[in-house]
Amino acid sequence: MKEQKIIYYGGDYNPDQWDAATVDEDMRLFRQAGINMVTLPVFSWAKLEPDEGVYNFGWLDALMDTFAKNGLKVCLATPTTAQPAWLSTRYPEVLPVDIAGRKRTHGMRVFFCVNSLKYRQRAAAIAREMALRYKDHPALALWHVANEYGTYCYCPTCEAQFRLWLKKRYGSIEELNARWTTAFWGRTLYSFEEVRLPTELNDDYRFNPAIQLDYMRFVTDSTVDCFLNEYNVVKAISPDIPITTNMSGYIKKLNQQVFTKHLDVVGWDNYPAPTDDASFVAFKHDIMRGLKGGAPYFLMEQSPNQQNWQPYNKLKRPGEVRLLSYQAMAHGADSCLFFQLRQSRGGQEKFHGAVIPHAGADTRVYRESAQLGAELARLGDAFVGGRSQNAAALLFDWENWWALELASGPSKDMDYLKTVSGYYKGLYDNLLPADVIGTGDDFAAYKLIIAPMLYMMKPGLAEKLQTFVQNGGTLIATTLTGVADENDRCVFGAYPGPLREVFGLWAEETDALFPAETNTLRLQTAAPGLAGGSVYTCGFLCDVLHTAAAETLATFESDFYASAPAFTQNSFGKGRAYYIATQPDKAFLKDFLGGLCARLGIAPVLHADAGVEITRRENAKNAIVFVLNHNQSPAAVRLGGTVYQNLLTGETMQGETEIAARDVWVLRKL
Ligand code: GLA
Ligand code: ZN
Repeated sequence: MKEQKIIYYGGDYNPDQWDAATVDEDMRLFRQAGINMVTLPVFSWAKLEPDEGVYNFGWLDALMDTFAKNGLKVCLATPTTAQPAWLSTRYPEVLPVDIAGRKRTHGMRVFFCVNSLKYRQRAAAIAREMALRYKDHPALALWHVANEYGTYCYCPTCEAQFRLWLKKRYGSIEELNARWTTAFWGRTLYSFEEVRLPTELNDDYRFNPAIQLDYMRFVTDSTVDCFLNEYNVVKAISPDIPITTNMSGYIKKLNQQVFTKHLDVVGWDNYPAPTDDASFVAFKHDIMRGLKGGAPYFLMEQSPNQQNWQPYNKLKRPGEVRLLSYQAMAHGADSCLFFQLRQSRGGQEKFHGAVIPHAGADTRVYRESAQLGAELARLGDAFVGGRSQNAAALLFDWENWWALELASGPSKDMDYLKTVSGYYKGLYDNLLPADVIGTGDDFAAYKLIIAPMLYMMKPGLAEKLQTFVQNGGTLIATTLTGVADENDRCVFGAYPGPLREVFGLWAEETDALFPAETNTLRLQTAAPGLAGGSVYTCGFLCDVLHTAAAETLATFESDFYASAPAFTQNSFGKGRAYYIATQPDKAFLKDFLGGLCARLGIAPVLHADAGVEITRRENAKNAIVFVLNHNQSPAAVRLGGTVYQNLLTGETMQGETEIAARDVWVLRKL
């Protein structure tokens, strides 16, 4: 694979919307802004193939040469996210059926059935055409297959494929009945032909979690196949160029822990809401870094200013895009790409921010983009390829996410991403960087694993967690751990099921609190970061626990389970397992996780005031420390005795130093 020597900077560009003079002007403006990469032609299938097998690549050939002449690298997208009208019209099987059973007509992008053979055939054909044409083009740096996959289709092809998928997975209809607990509500099936997709027509998508769960797995696998259909063609022709795609920021619908195994490099689109906490954005980046065992990933899209599709599209404040860009790179991104480089004249996204907005280049957003471009050029490959080594990990499992939120009860407010991000924030607020890992990753690399609401115990997972603790690891779990198997069948003999011994306790019942209702937990003894007798608020869910070997660290203060354990620890083998039987407040998580990490010898990269984020990435050349001030006021950073150089300004610094509001440092030890 070709080595990456620069941070890719640029993004989606749609020159097919512009005349030649505009493209010329753009080349000048891109150069001036330090832009080194353009992504295209994401939506140009209809222009590239006006009729079946008739190709019109002349305009793209000319552009590719123009880009090369102007020193631009190309992230070349197969245009298969928006099929031409002739394809949908001639072969209606290409169009999806929605969850309400409606056959959709040609129109939207990402509006095709991933299982349609005709779609796959034509997608592979244009991908082959592009790969053959551009494989040796000097501008080609990356392949980008389609755009933001994620269609759930309910057409007859998908139904037939789902039945085959189930047959392959479960072998017999008896096994399927057992896995889906069909004895409940009289759903026994006598043949795979009786399987129907979970739609609004039968309401199984919301009232039958086992079916819906398998359907979501099936859609992921079908999307993988649809992606590989193009990937394999491109790879065979252009083996040295990495292939990626851009995953939507709304990442729940496809199991990215499965999907991204098939990409050369992970890529994702980051569109935080203006109200998102900085720690939530950091958490999502760390999910992305975790998808390929800590390998760097690409930030494929972010907005250089406002979006158009939020309910209220706030402008990004001066310095905000720069801060968000470095935040991505601080967590493992080796690119900083925007949607979009030039703002479209019309269409749905005419109000979406762009590096060159309608107002032109004499604008704040263009100047800020150019400033960032100049900085990235100065940084060169200082941290490209760099990894972060962290001793603390959060366990995040996609299928657990689905299952937990498909379950009817105990509360309608189940939010796995938010729950795990709350624990992430507990570390983040102590300046403690963490990895986000999946159930298939190596646990032995970590001192601490936090596994909030690990409801679904897949085969082998409990044993793996048990071995981790046995060998000296520290594990934190919470209410709703070890409840169900991978088919959403609950365990008998009390939760946390197979982990009862590791935690030394069992949960008899789980109480769901009303949104405004709270309980409190009182520390019965001192615990890491928590003083004996201290009191914290908790809520959402409260287990009624019985300890066996576990020691009670805190008890609930009210309700019929007052004085029952709310927080426990258990020594198991050489390690320790903490159980939090409720959802504690932010202060508890900050105090406990800070104290626990200190005890485990897990230290922040550097110390600083609240609102500052600090991470470290190391490549063969450098160990780089990123310091990001998310505050709108200056903050103190304690650099200690080491002398650092800020690669952005060249200045050297040491000891307690002030970082300006919203500023960023990229530090190298001298
Ligand atoms: C997504 C798409 C882009 C564009 C942006 C707008 O990420 O991939 O084509 O629509 O959203 O925010
Ligand atoms: Zn379909």
